[in-house]
Amino acid sequence: MGLTAARSVCMCWIVCVFIALMDTHTPDGGWSAVSEQSLQDEGLCNIDVLDASSLSHQQFLERYAYSQPLVLRGLTDNSRFRKSCSRSNLLEVYGALTVRLSTANTFSYRKVDVPFRDYVNRFLRPQSVNALGSETLYFFGDNNYSEWRGLLDQYQVPPYVLPQTSSALSFGVAGAGTGVPFHWHGPGFSEVIYGRKRWFLYPPDREPHFHPNRTTLSWLRETYPHLPEDEAPLECTIRPGEVLYFPDRWWHATLNLDTSVFISTFLS
Ligand SMILES: *[C@@H]1O[C@H](CO)[C@@H](O)[C@H](O)[C@H]1NC(C)=O
Ligand SMILES: *[C@@H]1O[C@H](CO)[C@@H](O)[C@H](O)[C@H]1NC(C)=O
Repeated sequence: MGLTAARSVCMCWIVCVFIALMDTHTPDGGWSAVSEQSLQDEGLCNIDVLDASSLSHQQFLERYAYSQPLVLRGLTDNSRFRKSCSRSNLLEVYGALTVRLSTANTFSYRKVDVPFRDYVNRFLRPQSVNALGSETLYFFGDNNYSEWRGLLDQYQVPPYVLPQTSSALSFGVAGAGTGVPFHWHGPGFSEVIYGRKRWFLYPPDREPHFHPNRTTLSWLRETYPHLPEDEAPLECTIRPGEVLYFPDRWWHATLNLDTSVFISTFLS
């Protein structure tokens, strides 16, 4: 092999290794390359945030499980799962699989099937404030467990289960500014693997004012600033390494501040 050829093979290796390192070692796993348009306002956090080491499972059951939301730090270590969820790894392993997208409105009317690669390359865009939830396609849940098992099996489920429930996972990836408007269901945990997610919550007996086809972003810009003090939500922004617990039937809306990879554990 001539010197020039050897040098170019070597350069290529250096570049490849460099790209691989960048991708798994950048704080965003390559996801923010999709869009630089993160939202900056994390808002306040007026729910309890605790280190998992300071709250036992029993204390969780007594103080939170049936009565109020909570953010726990360091409950699980999902660094291995996080590596598997880098943009390049997900595209390489799962790019060809078909995923089912839902419209991001309260009752999720429309479902669309696309290859995961197309979703990442074409649909994963920052959300404009004027878009309707019923026009925004979002990948979260409806996961085919047999196809995604290799990934989902790596996820460490929050160990603070509720008695007599079993858990089901929903995995998703979505652009900055997207989110699900107010809705409710059974209890569970939500975790971001990449990106930040802002949460808004109300107890079951305090139905918030919102339009089911508008996005969380438009609610935040148009309704939230005018809420009287006694209608203010509970809220908090979660980051990787934190898990948010939502109790049964609590109203909640979410807003992805960055392009985000996230997973929820539903208990039923
Ligand atoms: C899940 O994926 C498998 C394997 O590709 C396929 O046979 C099955 O029909 C899929 N299930 C659903 C509910 O789409
Ligand atoms: C929301 O959008 C869906 C689908 O476009 C439509 O069927 C429904 O009537 C709309 N709901 C409201 C309250 O506007």
